[in-house]
Amino acid sequence: MKQQVKAAEGKLGILMPGLGAVATTMIAGVAAIKKGLSKPIGSLTQMGTIRLGKRTENKEPKIKDFVPLANLEDIVFGGWDVYEDNVYEAALNARVLDANLLRDVREELQAIKPMRAAFDRNYVKNLDGKFVKEEENRHELALAVMEDIKNFQAQNNCDRIVLVWCGSTEIYFEPSEVHESLAAFEQGLKDNDARIAPSMIYAYAALKLGIPFANGAPNLTVDIPALIELAKETNTPIAGKDFKTGQTLMKTILAPGLSARALGVNGWFSDNILGNRDGLVLDDPDNFKTKEVSKLGVLEDIFKPEKNPDLYGDMYHKIRINYYPPHGDNKESWDNIDIFGWLGYKMQIKINFLCRDSILAAPIVLDLALFIDLAKRANMSGIQEWLSFYLKSPQTLPNVPAENDIFKQLMKLQNTLRHMMGEDLITHLGLDYEEEPVENV
Ligand SMILES: NC(=O)c1ccc[n+]([C@@H]2O[C@H](COP(=O)([O-])OP(=O)(O)OC[C@H]3O[C@@H](n4cnc5c(N)ncnc54)[C@H](O)[C@@H]3O)[C@@H](O)[C@H]2O)c1
Repeated sequence: MKQQVKAAEGKLGILMPGLGAVATTMIAGVAAIKKGLSKPIGSLTQMGTIRLGKRTENKEPKIKDFVPLANLEDIVFGGWDVYEDNVYEAALNARVLDANLLRDVREELQAIKPMRAAFDRNYVKNLDGKFVKEEENRHELALAVMEDIKNFQAQNNCDRIVLVWCGSTEIYFEPSEVHESLAAFEQGLKDNDARIAPSMIYAYAALKLGIPFANGAPNLTVDIPALIELAKETNTPIAGKDFKTGQTLMKTILAPGLSARALGVNGWFSDNILGNRDGLVLDDPDNFKTKEVSKLGVLEDIFKPEKNPDLYGDMYHKIRINYYPPHGDNKESWDNIDIFGWLGYKMQIKINFLCRDSILAAPIVLDLALFIDLAKRANMSGIQEWLSFYLKSPQTLPNVPAENDIFKQLMKLQNTLRHMMGEDLITHLGLDYEEEPVENV
């Protein structure tokens, strides 16, 4: 049965806390695409297709022609940062995109200026930006962020807003009682409880206004009971955590294949060098720990060592990220994978991925924003597990294990879209083809 999905009428505002490498690469990219200078490569919402019905029906429309998504022409961008640079300056500093390309979209980018950030340096020690809000406590900060959102919406004549956290990775910490319920969290805001991270303040402000929120970093942010409760209360979709790019993308492509063939793995060593501001932040051990936890879970979830002790019970998994300024945003990663096959005979796989982090992340930000806006219009609220496809450490309901296999994640995403639009779900069973005339198969 088709769900009631409201049309994407009017303008969509995409607001991002953190106008650094990823956010500016996305904004500049959309501006270039709108001018016909480039194509939205890597974006499922813009270039992906979806099969409908049986293979014999040969129906495979573009996703954007199948579900009602906001049009690129109807998007307005904004955000917050601890540095005052406009998006053009920030994109130049990030050194991801070619200066010539940036010059072609200079006017649009210069017009986007950050709003003052809700910031606490205890959460990101390696940054010392001064463009920050000076409110008395976290409650006042949340109110100020809500004001920013409302002003942005009014000034830009937006019908709808979504927030995507593109800010730095915050330090690692475990959730505690202030995160356990909405009541405790709201009291914590008033008490200026230091355990409430800045990213949670943005998320709270958005959710309180019924605005969808997606988290592109590995920090907890919306992955706490208090904000899940608020999302349900205000009927708002949320998604997180951590954009799936680079090395983890490769892991979730390769590991399901090894597992599918019942090949054993006893070692996976992953090393990275990275020289952008993200790399600088991750050079602090407390911030790195947040990233490490997010990246480590992926293989465990795919290989399930407790269910397959003979194949994966003795797997050593190690991840290193090294800050190396000469490489800038062009992250280089090395994976050494020790595998074994029939009768335990050993083999090795080596991957040397010369990737561009923000080039892989930018279309994810766009897709997450467009899909979470769709979710809101489809009256879906709380954790949107179907968006796991884009995330390294997918947020799930309590006691529901995450699905990290990218192929299952894609199937889940596509089936969710089919379900929304009242199309048959595709199970790939295929037995019913036998009942058809041979010429159709
Ligand atoms: N690039 C990727 O492939 C990738 C993949 C997964 C996750 N991420 C995550 O996405 C985030 C952005 O990555 P990036 O490469 O653009 O980093 P970046 O350092 O270039 O940009 C982050 C920006 O956030 C700002 N910031 C920090 N705290 C803030 C706050 N409280 N409010 C507003 N702004 C704040 C910083 O000043 C900075 O400009 C990071 O957390 C990163 O770990 C990136």
